[in-house]
Amino acid sequence: MSESLDSYQTLITDARDAFKRHFGKKCDAVATAPGRINLIGEHTDYTGGLALPAAIDRWTAVAFSQREDSLIKVHSINMSDDYEIDLSRIKATPLPEKEWQKYVYGAISLFQRDCGFQTGLNLLIAGNVPLGRGISSSASLEMALLNAFRDINMSDISDRELIELGQQVENIYLNVPTGLLDQFASQFSREGFIQLVDFRNLSNEYVQTHHNMENHEWALIDSQVKRSLAGSDYETRVKECRESFSLLKEKDQNIKHYRDITESDLQKHLKDEKPILYRRLLHVVKENARTLEAQVALQEGEVEKLGELINETHHSLQKLFEASCKELDLIQKIGIKHPACAGGRMMGGGFGGCVLFLINKNGRDSFIDYMENECQHHFSQKLPLMILNLVWGARIETCKD
Ligand code: GLA
Repeated sequence: MSESLDSYQTLITDARDAFKRHFGKKCDAVATAPGRINLIGEHTDYTGGLALPAAIDRWTAVAFSQREDSLIKVHSINMSDDYEIDLSRIKATPLPEKEWQKYVYGAISLFQRDCGFQTGLNLLIAGNVPLGRGISSSASLEMALLNAFRDINMSDISDRELIELGQQVENIYLNVPTGLLDQFASQFSREGFIQLVDFRNLSNEYVQTHHNMENHEWALIDSQVKRSLAGSDYETRVKECRESFSLLKEKDQNIKHYRDITESDLQKHLKDEKPILYRRLLHVVKENARTLEAQVALQEGEVEKLGELINETHHSLQKLFEASCKELDLIQKIGIKHPACAGGRMMGGGFGGCVLFLINKNGRDSFIDYMENECQHHFSQKLPLMILNLVWGARIETCKD
């Protein structure tokens, strides 16, 4: 964990130094928000389901200070680019073309709508969350910005409302109907913990993992297949779930929420008539059940069982939900053959991005060598591999000196 702390502190120092170089004076504070992994519970959040996310030691940092005028001036280190908006003319300011600027524009517009800014700001964005890889670089940017705005304006907006603003940035300005998984994990995570989140009522529980789990860790392999949620199959999946739910509600008055749906309801009402919709919701129903089983496996230290559940999730996303791709399937298949690997699955929105593996720490080096060789063989290149630590959620780091 000290490695994570080092990279966290380095990122904050870099953001503060870059802020000073760019704006010519010191920042007041740095807001940080992490990316996330999700053990199990994929494509369940927008149907009020269950998930087991945790924040990882990759962050977006926003260094900030107030200005005397009504301008918000933003510099992004990763994009080597600037953006500027006048708070007094927000409504007349069009949505920018560039994707990173849309997030900034969205967060500013929504915060202005719900809380209001006292003055303009200087903002500098830095970060080490790989972009567009399914580990929530977007949510970490939204949450770092929104936490910075809340802090500097001394707003009393709650954490819950803040994550909903983050979600709206994506829904309204990026035009993607994402759920709350990423923002929830980025805001509410605790160091070393996995959360069980219930999206039906937005409640959470920090899972007490058994000491058996201490010998294990999480590794991510980046397929290098770039995923973009915007205008993608993600939206189609959300629509398919909604359509299936409406059909089921019409057929059975007792079904009022997705969580009321059972496998036999699906068999009775959808299997023959709407086989695709049947498969989509079968994934959701089984995934919710798997999430609860995974929670027990974590608490009881049943690593093998957890690995099996993780593999099942992959196959369900591959075959029922059809959110995988051939590269992810191959990486998963190769990875789980290694003796140190308890299980693996594609993670996040899918259609590209990363594969998550649960591995035994004693076999880490051998797993890394094995995957490097295998990926070189199958993809003719080394694929980035990250070993992850589970960290705390969004924070404000004040700059004292
Ligand atoms: C993306 C979305 C989340 C969630 C996952 C799939 O990360 O932003 O809301 O739907 O995909 O579980």
